Amino acid sequence: AASLKGRDFLGLVDYTPEEIRYLIDLAIDLKKKQKAGEGHQPLKGKTLGMIFEKSSTRTRVSFEVGMYQLGGHALFLSKNDLQIGRGESIMDTAQTMSRYLDGIMIRTYAHRTVIDLARGATVPVINGLTDRSHPCQALADYQTVLEKKGKLAGLKIAYIGDGNNMVHSLMMGAAKLGLHMAVASPEGYDPDPEVAKNSRENAVKTGGSLLLTRDAKEAIDGADVVYTDVWASMGFEAEQKERELAFASYQVNEELARYAKKDFLFMHCLPAHRGEEVSEGVIDGPNSIIFDQAENRLHAQKAVMAALMG
Ligand code: CP
Ligand code: NVA
Repeated sequence: AASLKGRDFLGLVDYTPEEIRYLIDLAIDLKKKQKAGEGHQPLKGKTLGMIFEKSSTRTRVSFEVGMYQLGGHALFLSKNDLQIGRGESIMDTAQTMSRYLDGIMIRTYAHRTVIDLARGATVPVINGLTDRSHPCQALADYQTVLEKKGKLAGLKIAYIGDGNNMVHSLMMGAAKLGLHMAVASPEGYDPDPEVAKNSRENAVKTGGSLLLTRDAKEAIDGADVVYTDVWASMGFEAEQKERELAFASYQVNEELARYAKKDFLFMHCLPAHRGEEVSEGVIDGPNSIIFDQAENRLHAQKAVMAALMG
């Protein structure tokens, strides 16, 4: 879609169902080309700056490799080495970087930082995870579900655990793509009510739905997809102990998974804490597709970069 050129990718909320579906289809096409060894270099001579204020394995490697495969070049920019670390403003950083780069990916804490960066930059800005959302992961995840199930609309996805960045992007994606989503989280760890409200409004238009509950069994009942994430996200490590108590009855294990459909897909954005949010038996069992998800980060982000920066 020509309309995606020059856009930012800050959240799925900003994209129509058609645009999201276009990106997923492009990701599948680019994946096919890469596996067949066919050239696909729409970003020849282009550069992507990647600002990291938090750790990363998948996001960093998949963006860097993806940019290379598209014919371009990616720069890994750690907060510790940038002048941001010494107090240079996001606005000045955005304007400076726009003079060198064709796109900027950023992983940071406050979502505000990404919005400010996008406001100051004249090149596309891609959200590589904030405390609020992780749209690149959700895009890759719905690509993965489509590949495995052959459809998206009408499926049921259950998320068990922390109402964090990951569930926010999954909720918005489910709403835009017509899935039924059920989220089970303990009191005090609900998803952001605003994201839930916004997701519900979007779900109305696609035939999807959103259920929020405290009951993990109710959420997982009859689910096609079962998703979980760590109990303490990056930046919340100090709360690990209290969160282990709060989430104790929210582990995705064999007993809970019995309530899902027999052929359910188990998904996790990774990194995982085996024995906490998920049992070893489930994450390493036959229903788990965690590494297909991880692989699709590469293909989905190549689609985003090709569409926005091509
Ligand atoms: N899922 C994900 O974003 O992984 P990284 O933190 O390793 O990038
Ligand atoms: N919710 C996790 C996701 C990591 C990819 C975090 O923010 O740490």
